[in-house]
Amino acid sequence: RGPDTHSPTGQETGVPQKKVAQDGAYLTTAQGARLYDTDHSLKAGARGPVLLQDHHLREKITHFDHERIPERVVHARGAAAHGVFRAYGTASTVSKAAFLAKGVETPVFVRFSTVLGSRGSADTVRDTRGFATKFHTEEGVFDLVGNNIPVFFIQDAIKFPDVIHAGKPHPDREIPQAQSAHDTFWDFVTLHTEATHHTLWNMSDRGIPRSYRMMEGFGVHTFRLVDAEGGSTLVKFHWKPKLGVHSLVWEEAQITAGVDPDFHRRDLADAIEAGAFPQWELGIQTFPDTPEQNFTGIDLLDPTKIVPEELAPVQPIGLLTLNANPSNYFAETEQVAFHVGHLVPGIDVTNDPLLQGRLFSYLDTQLTRLGGPNFGQLPINRTHAPVNDMLRDGMHQTAVHRGVAPYRPNSLDGGCPFLAGEHTGAFVEVPAEVAASVKERKAPTSFDDHYSQPRLFWLSLTPTEREHIIAAYTFELGKCYEQAIKERALVVLANIDSELCAQVAAGLGLPVPPGEARLEDPAPSPALSQLGQTWPLD
Ligand code: HEM
Repeated sequence: RGPDTHSPTGQETGVPQKKVAQDGAYLTTAQGARLYDTDHSLKAGARGPVLLQDHHLREKITHFDHERIPERVVHARGAAAHGVFRAYGTASTVSKAAFLAKGVETPVFVRFSTVLGSRGSADTVRDTRGFATKFHTEEGVFDLVGNNIPVFFIQDAIKFPDVIHAGKPHPDREIPQAQSAHDTFWDFVTLHTEATHHTLWNMSDRGIPRSYRMMEGFGVHTFRLVDAEGGSTLVKFHWKPKLGVHSLVWEEAQITAGVDPDFHRRDLADAIEAGAFPQWELGIQTFPDTPEQNFTGIDLLDPTKIVPEELAPVQPIGLLTLNANPSNYFAETEQVAFHVGHLVPGIDVTNDPLLQGRLFSYLDTQLTRLGGPNFGQLPINRTHAPVNDMLRDGMHQTAVHRGVAPYRPNSLDGGCPFLAGEHTGAFVEVPAEVAASVKERKAPTSFDDHYSQPRLFWLSLTPTEREHIIAAYTFELGKCYEQAIKERALVVLANIDSELCAQVAAGLGLPVPPGEARLEDPAPSPALSQLGQTWPLD
């Protein structure tokens, strides 16, 4: 391996970079005053009290005292890498996004994460993994903020604080860290049965990936792509790892969590340093943008549902290669700020009520986490496109704005900033009809089917994969103190598959719930029932 030629933010410079903490011939204060000693505080005599006037002592300790920023409220533990996305051009028929045109190379920064654990928790716990990608396109930043599981626990963002409160450690004892093995988690997912599908994926081998390099990624929601003529197509985004999808077995995950809690971040950094650059193909499933936003009976606005790849194949649109490690964890991995609202022309959101809530949440939380409204100026977040906005001042402002008239039109600063034409630029909404009643706190009836897709997932698995799921439910539910929660979980399992329920009940030493606990599915999709017992996942 040759010398590292990447800049502190991971860009290739062609020039060997010094890996030293302090550059320069001598040590200074933050104000640049040269120091002759950094090991002894100023005292009244060698054995006397320390003097308040020792500026260097106060500066050094004060800065240290303020080194920590709040960890992310979710996805606190993560690892990241720089890379490049090369578009195949195959998406250009459905999206005018410049970075999707054939051969265009776009710098990216990708952060992988667990969801529930704190910053210092172990990597190999059973959990969903985040897969967030920041594309620094020439038209501005596009963030694809996805997970390694294609569905989500809830259908409406208003429940997000609730599901996270249930999944995080209990407020009294602050245990367990990053595990679903506790009462509040199972209480929530058995009372809010739309969580059944995501929970089943969590209990499957997908909940304990072998490596970040061997995970799929999913945009989860349906997005809307817009072409150069204004035509629109609904899509779901998929990342497919070139190394294939691999998982740990539970015993490996547990031992690894103790022996090497940094297993996943070490694996990612070591692979990249060794030149074994991980790659993923980005693909899309496409659906006609009809007013029903429904494909073969599957509601495309319901984030607890997938569209099987047999019904809508994933079409490859580009290749992601991760080729450089961050040089500073805090500056890059910790301070990066993703947002589902960071969109470029040609990519738009849909009315999925979970996605709509996320559009609010990310900026809001980052205002606290990153100390005010100017975190977009941090090197890792700064767009590579020219910025000409009318935002001013605020905490940690680093731009020195010129002129006196940050408004338009104005007659003082040489006219007004140029605006894109009516149908160009980002955030050009595709006109859509809105239902007659404006105020409605309810979900469409299609959101009531909570079991047909979990059942399909279960039926798609091999006997070994099913054994792993049975063992996972038995282990995790076995950690609950409340008997009633375990019994309710068995009712949920009975609604997925009677054998799954019976095996977990036996493992827990509990009776199988009576037959009437099995519900009728309110509205299973006809296309799904045709897929039968042999639906493969990959
Ligand atoms: C962070 C994915 C739903 C709020 C993240 C991150 C990912 C992610 C990957 C980590 C970003 C990073 O690495 O910095 C998802 C997915 C969701 C989902 C795929 C559903 C499909 C939600 C919802 C909300 C939410 C519904 C709130 C209403 C947050 C917050 C953070 C976060 C507050 C922390 C962001 C930060 O501090 O930078 N999410 N999320 N997420 N998510 Fe989500």
